[in-house]
Amino acid sequence: MPDLDEILDAAPVIPVLVMDDARTALPVARALVAGGLPVLEVTLRTPAALAIIRAMREVPGAIVGAGTVLDPAMLDAAIDAGAQFAVSPGLTDSLARAAATAPIPLLPGVATASEVMRARDHGFSRLKFFPATASGGLPAVKAFASVFGGLRFCPTGGITQDNAPDWLAIPAVACIGGTWLVPPCDSPDPAAIEQRARAAAALKKD
Ligand code: 3PG
Repeated sequence: MPDLDEILDAAPVIPVLVMDDARTALPVARALVAGGLPVLEVTLRTPAALAIIRAMREVPGAIVGAGTVLDPAMLDAAIDAGAQFAVSPGLTDSLARAAATAPIPLLPGVATASEVMRARDHGFSRLKFFPATASGGLPAVKAFASVFGGLRFCPTGGITQDNAPDWLAIPAVACIGGTWLVPPCDSPDPAAIEQRARAAAALKKD
């Protein structure tokens, strides 16, 4: 099972997937992996999400995680479906306790200094910064990095191909995430997804 640093360092961008139709899981995952983005975050925001995780695990080279994990029951369901990591938009005591004994790593979300401190107290040093743009954007993550040593962030929320380089230029930003690779309401077009993935994979982490 890859650890969080291996996951965050595998590519500059983690596609955040909000998908309704499990039949599209394989073509979407294959297109993203072929484009150079092996780490896939399938959000548990749709009834099909767990089936999509199961299906994507079949794709060679894919590292498949569950996003929008809100509580221990959702963490358990993600693990049962084969998720290799979990991402949460925030952190609760119950989720932190469940993550401490889980067989997969959790990347919890933070948006304020107190939330960073709370996550540190629970032993987390790899954090999602969410919602990144709405919570202060680049100046906020730079300020966190200067105050809290030893942390690595994956900002998501409002990040696009165009503004991605600004985020990736920050040393404490390990990688970024976003939904722009596979727009949630679209019926997926594998060729377009692969092209967007290629552009994202070509972004440089300074
Ligand atoms: C997430 O869960 O990280 C967000 O939904 C990503 O936000 P975006 O749609 O602005 O990329």
